[in-house]
Amino acid sequence: MEKFIIEGGKKLEGEVQISGSKNAALPIIAASIMGEGKTILHNVPNLKDVQTMIKILNYMGAKTEFKNGVLEIDPSGIYQFTAPYEFVSTMRGSICLLGPLLAKYKTARFSMPGGCVIGPRPIDLHIKGFKKLGINIENEEGYIVGKADKIKGNIIFLGGNFGSSVLATANIMCAATLAEGETIIEFSSCEPEIVALANFLKKMGGRIYGEGSHLIRIEGVKKLKGVEYNIIPDRIEAGTYILAGYMTKSKIKIKGVIYQHLLSLFDKLEEAGLEISYNDEYVETIPKERWKALEITTLPFPGFPTDLQAQMMSFLTLADGISLITEKVFPERFIHVGELNRLGADITLDGSKAIIKGVNSLRGTKVMASDLRASAALVLAGLVAEGTTEISRIYHLDRGYENLENKLSILGAKIKRVREES
Ligand code: UD1
Repeated sequence: MEKFIIEGGKKLEGEVQISGSKNAALPIIAASIMGEGKTILHNVPNLKDVQTMIKILNYMGAKTEFKNGVLEIDPSGIYQFTAPYEFVSTMRGSICLLGPLLAKYKTARFSMPGGCVIGPRPIDLHIKGFKKLGINIENEEGYIVGKADKIKGNIIFLGGNFGSSVLATANIMCAATLAEGETIIEFSSCEPEIVALANFLKKMGGRIYGEGSHLIRIEGVKKLKGVEYNIIPDRIEAGTYILAGYMTKSKIKIKGVIYQHLLSLFDKLEEAGLEISYNDEYVETIPKERWKALEITTLPFPGFPTDLQAQMMSFLTLADGISLITEKVFPERFIHVGELNRLGADITLDGSKAIIKGVNSLRGTKVMASDLRASAALVLAGLVAEGTTEISRIYHLDRGYENLENKLSILGAKIKRVREES
């Protein structure tokens, strides 16, 4: 295993280019199997999760080639419709293959994704949606087995106790694209990654209306074709670098951001008393010595993203006053709290709320990464902590941040990856 060693306290400068979005790439790669012929995707981030998705496609019989951010997928040789436990257990997001498999082949066998450190992560909404489309779903020895003679459009209410579901929307939208007749998804997710998937499906020949709102209408078509498509930039990676700029009190340019995807973050940074400069090409952080405490509630898009909650908490450990974060998407997603406290933060938990008392400084020590975004929060803390921070188990970060240590080093951070002695 590998770990990061970070010498804190260095100012950052220069620019960083944002990679393609992991959460847009995964469902789009999955949807490519619905096309007749080859799909070529550009700006695909080279991440562990993307590699896992490619491995599943290869296992099923697809031919793929991935070089310099360009991923070519030829699904014509697919002959098995199973996603085994070894793959699904390392990447819950692989569930987004279920809709495309059922749409194209009317059969799929998928290992049940288990729980994970951010909570139980049920799939009831996916199953409800598939059943409404006439797909028979059974649970056989830890596998979800889906079968249908034909998939028929329907009106589907896809809301759950925590609001809309991103990947359930992706799955049902894909299945409905090749269904007979019209489907209406009520309470669909509005996330930019869903809009990107809808645009991809439309380019393939799908007929989709209303993406980006809570009501998506899909007119089923008989066939889709393989296409060439660009993956949108990763708004969560961008948000993480923006917070790195402010936390280190540095002026940096974050390039290739779609700023409309990050308005909830900008709104909170302004409320904290910070100035932020942005245009169509880049976001620039305008450093300030102090910032104010905030109240933040995570919500589905366009609300504050749960995937930036941990990084935002890191930022608020150094704010003036007491901040409150309420996690409304994954109420148990607070595994980073204990580790941030080891670095000198003052955070207490009360159910799905975290109370963060601002401190003057953090101190480097040994900490352990536990999930993808929690790990990013520790890197941010390490950049400003006095002395040395060692972060172990960084394989979590490799699931979602492309070239993190290189990008930070180019900005002037002192961060290195070393092998951990076992
Ligand atoms: C996606 C993102 C993940 C992000 C999350 C929320 C990908 C690959 N992953 O995950 O990074 O944190 O959106 O923005 O795109 N729920 C149910 N029943 C279901 C499905 C979900 O109750 O069948 C609940 C979840 O437990 C959670 C909430 O709905 O409380 C939202 O989860 P969801 O949007 O489904 O997350 P994912 O799509 O898995």
